Order: sequence, then structure tokens, then C-alpha cells
Amino acid sequence: MAGPLPSPATGRALLAWYDVHRRDLPWRAAPGEVSDPYRVWLSEIMLQQTTVAAVRSYYAAFLDRWPRVNDLAAAEDGEVMAAWAGLGYYARARNLLACARVVAVSGFPATREGLRALPGVGDYTSAAIAAIAFGEPAVVVDGNVERVVARLTRLARPPKAARRAVEAAVEAMLPADRPGDFAQAMMDLGATICTPKSPACAICPLLHDCAAARHGEAAAYPVKAPKKARAVWRGAMFVPVRPDGTVLVRRRPERGMLGGMVEVFGSPWAAEIGDAADHAPFAAAWTAAGSITHTFTHADLTVDVFRADVAAETAAPAGGWWADPAAAGLPTVMKKAVTRALAMAEG
Ligand code: ADE
Ligand code: SF4
Repeated sequence: MAGPLPSPATGRALLAWYDVHRRDLPWRAAPGEVSDPYRVWLSEIMLQQTTVAAVRSYYAAFLDRWPRVNDLAAAEDGEVMAAWAGLGYYARARNLLACARVVAVSGFPATREGLRALPGVGDYTSAAIAAIAFGEPAVVVDGNVERVVARLTRLARPPKAARRAVEAAVEAMLPADRPGDFAQAMMDLGATICTPKSPACAICPLLHDCAAARHGEAAAYPVKAPKKARAVWRGAMFVPVRPDGTVLVRRRPERGMLGGMVEVFGSPWAAEIGDAADHAPFAAAWTAAGSITHTFTHADLTVDVFRADVAAETAAPAGGWWADPAAAGLPTVMKKAVTRALAMAEG
């Protein structure tokens, strides 16, 4: 670390800013009120790898449908997977249910260590819930916090490679009496002022404590790790359409990409898939409907989509069923494929 450690005064300056400028978010307790662990947990799981803007409507819908953790625990797996459709990173939805079912029996553990043992709750999430819902002075480090700290201290290495230094800096400014507000203040500062591309240092409450700003090089931090090459996958998907507009779907295996989600029939995704026709669910007058692309964390996928208009009495092959595509709980990549197929004029 090139700069000095931040001080408790930096933490207090941040809280004073937060008390005036905090974002009004639906999962946040009003100032002075205690947060409900279920709401904090649900929001933190949804906010993993997903933006506040994308999470808002899902959070409201989940709370509306399952107001308490026991309601969620009693839900059918398929219902929850369908309600999660579109949010991405579907392992989160499976873990969400597994976790709700544990918590419905024994309640939320009130410590970071206890929380860490729950399905889907890792280092970040356990610290966030412990701090926000239980007032534990846990060190909460997400991408926003990494960026703010890297700039405050002119951190010489990529934050993920300097985990200890990042934690030490957060610990040095953490106000023990308001750990939840402090964690969320760091997130808000990172989301609204100390943003990735153009930090607004001139209006930042930490300007006078910030080593990178003092050197006029805020945007040069955090130092980047070299990029890994992304995989390139291809696939084929087949969308048979019956006269009533229903399409053929099946459920993906529990394990692996999009595990447990509803999908259309098609090939595995790989660098090479051979002849697309080998992956059709049955023989029909398949017509090429064009292709769609989708970006996953570690791969770029391009899928050739095929459509066939089939008779009303066409039977679903083993493992499949006919579904209204708008109500089937399709994840985003599958929605793209179906939309592509349906956009093709008939005949
Ligand atoms: N991102 C993750 N958790 C958050 C929270 N509690 N407030 C704002 N942004 C967040
Ligand atoms: Fe970020 Fe600039 Fe504030 Fe430093 S002064 S914390 S770089 S916004």
C-alpha cells in the first residue's frame, strides 16, 4: 500500500455524509430502526452480481408473494425458479430456497460465523447481513468497497490480490457503533460518487483523506488484474410452435449452468456442436430463424434458432411439456431464443 491507512475520522466523515445523502432503498430500515434479517438477506442475495436497478422489482415481487421466510420456505421449487427468471446466476435461487428452509426451522443465526454456514451465504453476504441486520462490526467488502479503498490508499495491487490490505483499511475506519450504516455508506459512495469511470472527487466527503485524489489520479485505481480470455460457445435451439402459441420446453438438470431452470430443447453449448439437426427434439419442418447471442460470466454464446409450426395434437417427447412462453419462467437467454423464433413470420 502506498498511502497511509485511513483513520476513524474518515469513517465518521463518511457516516455524516450518509446521514444526509443515503439512497432510499426498499430493503433499508428507516434511520434509527432495526433491519429485518429476512429482508436484508433477500436483498443481499439478489444484489450479488446484480445492480440495484435490476433488483428493485424482483425484491418487491418476492416480498409481496412471500412476506416472511417461512412463506418462502413453503414455496414450490418451480415457483421460485420462475419468479427468479431474468435475474441471472440461478444457483442463487436454488440456494435461496435451501437457505429459507433451514432458517424456517432454526431462525437466522445472529453472527457472521453462523450466517456463513447457510447455503449461498459466503464471505461478503455473511458480513453484510451480520453488520446490517445484527450490528456486528464485520468488515464488508464488495466491489464498491474495493474501489473506494484502492483509491483512498493508492493500493498498488488489484484489490482481489490484496484482500488483507483492503480489510485492514476498512477496519481502520470502521465505526463500531454503526457497522451496518458504514457498510452501506461505502456502497453508496462507490455507487454515486466514487464511481468506476469518473469519480466526483470535488464533492466527495473523503476528498481530504484520499491519497489517489491528492495525486490527481483517482481514475487510475483500482489497478486492474490482467483479463482472462473468454470462452466462445455455440449452440442450437429448437422452438416448435403449436397453433395456440404454446412452445415445447423442458427443465435443465439441477447442476450446472442455469441449473433447474426451464429451457427450450437444443444442443449442449460448446466450441463445436457439429450438425445442429442432430439436436432437434423430433423430426419436423425446421426453419432457420436466425441467431441470438448471450453473454455469461465466462463465455460468449451464439445460438442458431430453429422454428417449426406443428399440429395442435403434437405430443411432447420425454421430459418435455407445452407452455405459454410468457408464463413459463424462461431465463433471459431462452426468452431471446423464443422471441427470435416467434418473430419469424409463419409459413
Ligand atoms: N449492494 C449490495 N448490498 C447493498 C445494499 N445494502 N445497499 C446498496 N447497495 C448494495
Ligand atoms: Fe473516490 Fe475521489 Fe472520493 Fe477519493 S476523493 S474516495 S477517489 S471520489
